[in-house]
Amino acid sequence: MQIELFSDKYKVRTLTGKNVDEIYDLLSQNILYYEYCPPFVTRQAIKEDMRILPSGKTIEDKYYIGFYQEGKLIAVMDLIDGYPEKRIVYIGFFMTDTSVQNQGTGTEIIDYLCRHLCTLRYESVRLAWVKGNPQSEHFWLKNGFVPLKETTSNAADEVILAERKLSHISL
Ligand SMILES: CC(C)(COP(=O)(O)OP(=O)(O)OC[C@H]1O[C@@H](n2cnc3c(N)ncnc32)[C@H](O)[C@@H]1OP(=O)(O)O)[C@@H](O)C(=O)NCCC(=O)NCCS
Repeated sequence: MQIELFSDKYKVRTLTGKNVDEIYDLLSQNILYYEYCPPFVTRQAIKEDMRILPSGKTIEDKYYIGFYQEGKLIAVMDLIDGYPEKRIVYIGFFMTDTSVQNQGTGTEIIDYLCRHLCTLRYESVRLAWVKGNPQSEHFWLKNGFVPLKETTSNAADEVILAERKLSHISL
């Protein structure tokens, strides 16, 4: 996947151990998220998240990426190519910087990415949010994700697995 094509507005870069401090600065401002999904973020947890994979996938399938606006990290995403099936993309984590929230930034990123994945012939995007987190739930429902089922994950006991079909959109 060519991550630089994931956005027409922001610079998209792979995040590595060198970026841990700026990632921590972004994540640690999102207090509400960690109330629903404890424990609170640490630099060590970020380093572990950079390598964590769902079963059956390899590091080549994983994209732990940052969206930059004028050199500032404004969003972090963990994306798995081809999970749980070849034509499905799984977003394991997505967070925007509090300084740009509630201005349509998150929606703009997700919407463009979905349109791009549609042109690459992916069928859908899947993800899960922690049950009861009003911010996550409102955001994903607003962005066209339809709940599939209630389940568990390694991050929380009760999550809502949801999907956005890509067949009806184009760039
Ligand atoms: C969810 C998140 C990515 C949205 O990013 P954003 O840049 O603010 O996105 P947008 O501006 O496009 O949309 C935000 C929407 O959430 C709503 N929202 C914000 N805080 C909310 C809250 N506490 N309860 C309910 N809705 C809330 C906004 O009103 C807005 O919806 P609207 O346009 O219908 O008014 C961002 O809030 C975030 O990073 N949260 C913490 C991490 C998280 O929950 N990630 C998703 C789960 S993996």
